[in-house]
Amino acid sequence: MKWLNGFVRDEIKGLQSYEVPDITCRVKLDAHENPYSLPGFVQEKIEQACSWFAFNRYPDPNAHILRKNLSIKLSVSPDMIMMGNGSDELILYLLLCFGPKRVIFPLPTFAMYDILARVTLSTAIGIPLDDGFEIDEEKIIDEAQKEPSIIFLSYPNNPTGNCFSRKRIERIISQTDALVVLDEAYYEFSQETFLPLVYECERIVVLRTFSKAFGLAGLRVGYMIAQPQVINEVRKVKLPYNLNAFSQVAASLSIENAPLFLPIVQGIMDEQKRIADALGTICNIKVYPSKANFILFKIAENICAKDVFNSLINEGILIRYLGDVPGLNNCLRVTIGTHEENNEFLQAIEKIMGKEEEGRGRK
Ligand SMILES: Cc1ncc(COP(=O)(O)O)c(C=O)c1O
Repeated sequence: MKWLNGFVRDEIKGLQSYEVPDITCRVKLDAHENPYSLPGFVQEKIEQACSWFAFNRYPDPNAHILRKNLSIKLSVSPDMIMMGNGSDELILYLLLCFGPKRVIFPLPTFAMYDILARVTLSTAIGIPLDDGFEIDEEKIIDEAQKEPSIIFLSYPNNPTGNCFSRKRIERIISQTDALVVLDEAYYEFSQETFLPLVYECERIVVLRTFSKAFGLAGLRVGYMIAQPQVINEVRKVKLPYNLNAFSQVAASLSIENAPLFLPIVQGIMDEQKRIADALGTICNIKVYPSKANFILFKIAENICAKDVFNSLINEGILIRYLGDVPGLNNCLRVTIGTHEENNEFLQAIEKIMGKEEEGRGRK
């Protein structure tokens, strides 16, 4: 289409839209979701809310109640919190507000830093992780010192699962003037955070989400914590009613009852350890340590990870193939499911890898 070709921005032409594979499986372990439904008490409270809910009214643009509940939980003042339609939206807002700039992130990492940097006319600069999936802080500092920059660090990193060295991150913060965004989407699992540093440095932003530990991925609720002046600037690019009223209520009830989620999170991390240990005993699989609700693992070079991925689909189990991501050759990633789902996954992958080994023995 000639008109379309001439009309669309050049940066958009070169982009690929973020696609989620359209594959339906009995066991879904591909997207870092929480496999459990909400604690019964929270579920009931949300259902009750539906009866008094004013669906005809616009939502509170500033999500006052939710931010207040969060502020109590986090011991920060409400004016340091801004809500987003998922933390994805907040990444976009940060880039709209502070970009276009040089946007620096390690590789591999969460794909949206790169995509949204390009969409917002920033220059995306990916710096490869080393073999142990650690950041190259010298290179990041080097790049960030050239021109004003925004640095995104997923902590723990999706998809590798590790938390980068604190010392290295602190060096990046102290030796650059960059805005450093610490994306703590998996904080409730890792229990590691940079939140206290937000008070000390106006260039630090912490991102969190209700999509993982709180099991509200379908309601799209994320938040950022930063100094009030930073929040005030970002609010200028925010759509007025970005977080719908129902999501505000559900997230608010969830955070009010946060202790009820603790056994769920603990259970997921116990399962994470069990699966990592079990995967580690399977021949031709290398497991990478993870502090999140997923595990990255590598299949030996002489076996095709895509075949293993497809064989799992044939068994009704969907995980994530990452072999096409630079730095993750022949790698797969599994999200922690329920105990039963995890058993199904382990049995299936043991069988598949056993067959592969047998096949190689015959050759
Ligand atoms: C590191 C990281 N940040 C942000 C997100 C997006 O979270 P949300 O559902 O809040 O948009 C994800 C989702 O997988 C993620 O892995």
